[in-house]
Amino acid sequence: MRPEQLRDLRFARGIASEAGGLLRAAAFRSHEADTKRDVTDLVTEYDRRSERVIVDAIRSAYPDDRILAEEGGELGGSGRRRWLIDPLDGTTNFSHGLPFFCVSIGLEEDGELALGIVQAPALGWSFFTVRGAGAWLGAHSTERRLHVSATSSLSTSLLATGFPYDRATNPQNNFAEFIALKKQVHGVRRVGAAALDLAMVAAGWLDGYWERRLKPWDLAAGALLVREAGGRVTTTNGGAFTPDACEAVATNGAIHEPLIAALSAVPPLV
Ligand code: IPD
Ligand code: CA
Ligand code: CA
Repeated sequence: MRPEQLRDLRFARGIASEAGGLLRAAAFRSHEADTKRDVTDLVTEYDRRSERVIVDAIRSAYPDDRILAEEGGELGGSGRRRWLIDPLDGTTNFSHGLPFFCVSIGLEEDGELALGIVQAPALGWSFFTVRGAGAWLGAHSTERRLHVSATSSLSTSLLATGFPYDRATNPQNNFAEFIALKKQVHGVRRVGAAALDLAMVAAGWLDGYWERRLKPWDLAAGALLVREAGGRVTTTNGGAFTPDACEAVATNGAIHEPLIAALSAVPPLV
């Protein structure tokens, strides 16, 4: 790893751990939430506090860098680097006291994913990756390199997916795809935190994941984790992935084409 990559990694892990500490101290209990555009799209004071910690640190360490953060939008800088920040991915879980939530920090350089951190503080998991240096999990004071699963068929796969906040009113809600896949595989989980879903594909605990209508900050860090763990990430029709595509199919590689084929076989609802 180049010295500047190591410096970025240490910096990003440090801020993820600081923001994660704030969330961990508030975990396992319920929190009042305001609603955003949809009644199911929640935000708590912790989303905002976590984002403030991360954004302030980036601004003072790297003032030229651009930042795209969920709560604050486009902030700072005009340089060739862009940080993509989800300060609390899994807000619905967090606000109910369910510990499946994380902080997601991605970094692009010249439009290419360069670094990713997915920190799940209530679970004790710190996933991290740097392009070219593999995907890693720090847990229980040890660090180990991650590899995607060896599952070779869709029918024996464990998958995850998610549903958009306007699912009650918008027919493009992934329900038909969920039902179709649920009948064809070992299981389809709905964890409730997209960055964690992706990190779990990287870890080989899930064989694949798909979701549409996400945001760049949900996808950036987790997608690099999957790639660096030997997996594959594309759009839902197999096209080139970037976080701005706002959707992904992420798999161990072996089940990628069968998953895309199964999704495209689902008739559109409207
Ligand atoms: C949400 C979670 C969820 C996904 C939603 C996201 P948030 O992020 O990642 O799993 O299905 O579409 O918006 O709002 O908890 O940061
Ligand atoms: Ca999110
Ligand atoms: Ca969020």
